[in-house]
Amino acid sequence: MIYLKTPEEIERMRGASTLVSQVLGEVAKWVRPGESTRRIDQIAREFILDNGGKPACLGYHGFPGTLCVEVNDTVVHGFPSGYELRDGDIVGFDTVVEKDGFMGDSCYTFAVGEISPEKMALCRTTKEALYEGIRACRVGGRIGDIANAVQTYCERRNYSLVREMTGHGIGRSMHEEPEVPNYGRRGIGPVIRNGMCICIEPMVNMGSRNVVIARNGWECMTRDHKPSAHYEHTIAIRNDEVEILTTFDYIEASLGERFI
Ligand code: MF3
Ligand code: CO
Repeated sequence: MIYLKTPEEIERMRGASTLVSQVLGEVAKWVRPGESTRRIDQIAREFILDNGGKPACLGYHGFPGTLCVEVNDTVVHGFPSGYELRDGDIVGFDTVVEKDGFMGDSCYTFAVGEISPEKMALCRTTKEALYEGIRACRVGGRIGDIANAVQTYCERRNYSLVREMTGHGIGRSMHEEPEVPNYGRRGIGPVIRNGMCICIEPMVNMGSRNVVIARNGWECMTRDHKPSAHYEHTIAIRNDEVEILTTFDYIEASLGERFI
């Protein structure tokens, strides 16, 4: 069942999405060598609570953090920990905020200090793939059009797409139908309609697409331990147009010259 949202509901989605974007803007200020991911997680939690939101990941099926932390070969769902960020790491922070009964979901992969040209290219390609997916999204089209655009863009550049996790519908719950895969054929899958709200979130690997899940049942890593990058926006389809409800502008404002 795909829940189509009214314009009023989409405005509330925008509120949650703006807050989650601001959270990542705050997180950006703390991404530096020596900072522990647990400390950054605490900062995010306090920021959400101070701004009238609820950290939706915290306690979700027992997830132990406000932020999912994705250092280097961690693809998704890493736990905040005592690990201190190091120069040359890439780190994704993925989080969901509930506000006014609706959810906003976004992820950004940051560079810690100076990163290798290979990691930089991986991050840039993954972010671009997200926007390619968004560009492929139009009323009357299909979810497979988005999936195919993301896949084609990345595979042409010799990266691989994780298949075990997908983007998703979003609304009053963080995961609604439809699934939004990052691979697949054009013209297949659900029809894109006005009122749909979805998250597009390419998870792109430098090496093979294979992943392993840690014994804690959550943390997902590349099998070959090569790096993986992940970017995510929440978008809404309204008046036959696609609106990106989340934004990386707050991150850009925090990072200035260091924004990649
Ligand atoms: N954006 C992530 C997802 O869609 C958020 C996960 S929150 C968690 O899977 F609690 F499940 F970790
Ligand atoms: Co998501």
